[in-house]
Amino acid sequence: MAIPLRFDVPVGPDRMIDRRSELAELGRAAARRTAIRLAAPRRFGKTSLLKAHVAAALDAGHRAVLVDLSDVGDLAAVVARVAHAYRGLHPSAARLVSRVTRRAGISVAPTGLSLTLERAASTFPSREQLEPVLLQLLDIPAVLHRDDRILTVVCFDEFQDLLRGGSGLDGVLRSVIQHHGDAAAYVYAGSHPSLLRALFVDRERPLFAQALPLELGPLPEDETVDALVRIFDDEGFGSEDHGAALDLLVSELGGHPQRVMLVADRLLRRLQDGDVGDPDELFERAIDDALRATADLHRATWGARAAAEGHVLRLVAEGVSPTGADAQRITGLSASTLGQAAERLVEDGQHLGRDGRRWWLIDPLFTLWLRRSTV
Ligand SMILES: Nc1ncnc2c1ncn2[C@@H]1O[C@H](COP(=O)(O)OP(=O)(O)O)[C@@H](O)[C@H]1O
Ligand SMILES: [Mg+2]
Repeated sequence: MAIPLRFDVPVGPDRMIDRRSELAELGRAAARRTAIRLAAPRRFGKTSLLKAHVAAALDAGHRAVLVDLSDVGDLAAVVARVAHAYRGLHPSAARLVSRVTRRAGISVAPTGLSLTLERAASTFPSREQLEPVLLQLLDIPAVLHRDDRILTVVCFDEFQDLLRGGSGLDGVLRSVIQHHGDAAAYVYAGSHPSLLRALFVDRERPLFAQALPLELGPLPEDETVDALVRIFDDEGFGSEDHGAALDLLVSELGGHPQRVMLVADRLLRRLQDGDVGDPDELFERAIDDALRATADLHRATWGARAAAEGHVLRLVAEGVSPTGADAQRITGLSASTLGQAAERLVEDGQHLGRDGRRWWLIDPLFTLWLRRSTV
């Protein structure tokens, strides 16, 4: 039986709520060979969108691939991830990947997560050995295109992690793809909006002005409620009260994609276990369950912050502007200390959002955790 709600893995195109305009925009950009940088906090549905973009590109007769760069630790890992992804593009790409890596004396583990040394090497391959391999791999879309004129759509996921493989790797990438013209269309997605932006808006960086920005916001509330109501209905929980609980859930969580799915999952489990109550009660219990499931994460986020930043997060969770007079009175901190801490958090883009005078915490469960905890 299919699991009705997914909150732990990217969703497939058939389960994706909305994102039509973003998908259309990615499609148009690919057709024009315009590169896109897609920035959004973690859990906003970037990988899900990239998968849908890949599926749409394949449907349109292009080649398409997702290269997952999340948490790569070194250049060897970058090579392994690219090799793993590109060998699936075409049988001749697979041959090319094997040839290139074999010549360098390395092979890619079936999972694509690591390189194995084939020759007895006393040391791990050096940057000098690996960089030419990476260059050749990255050029595969152009090699294939020379043969059959087919476009390759390449989506780099968690692209900012590329630099963990080496500080100049954006330059290495640029040196290859700048010659790709009609052969390839690139998407660079990342969970660290400021790091990602730095790669593309800093004049000193090789990828400066090489991609147009696309932002991924929360899900539209009405459509999300409708989708959830359909799922709950299929599971035998289609009453008006259940619908009202879902309404409450989506609006209280501000359409945060993963948080909505997580809390909806907790609600569904309760109903399946025979729990009953009015919409508010059901909603509250599902929130309690979700907070229990995520408490360790919130505690870690909280513990990692400097004191002033912690004050800012708590103020925003309580609905107090961190730059107003109340904030100074409540915390005893100066306007400049609070202002700088808030600036840092917004720049970091992981926890705090700001639009003019409106402040919000990106994770609505973190907001509730802060309001309810005694840290
Ligand atoms: N468009 C969407 N429709 C339904 N659920 C979504 C959507 N986007 C994200 N989600 C939910 O968020 C979770 C995380 O999505 P994912 O694509 O992995 O995000 P990211 O790559 O930004 O971290 C998914 O498991 C799913 O529950
Ligand atoms: Mg992702």
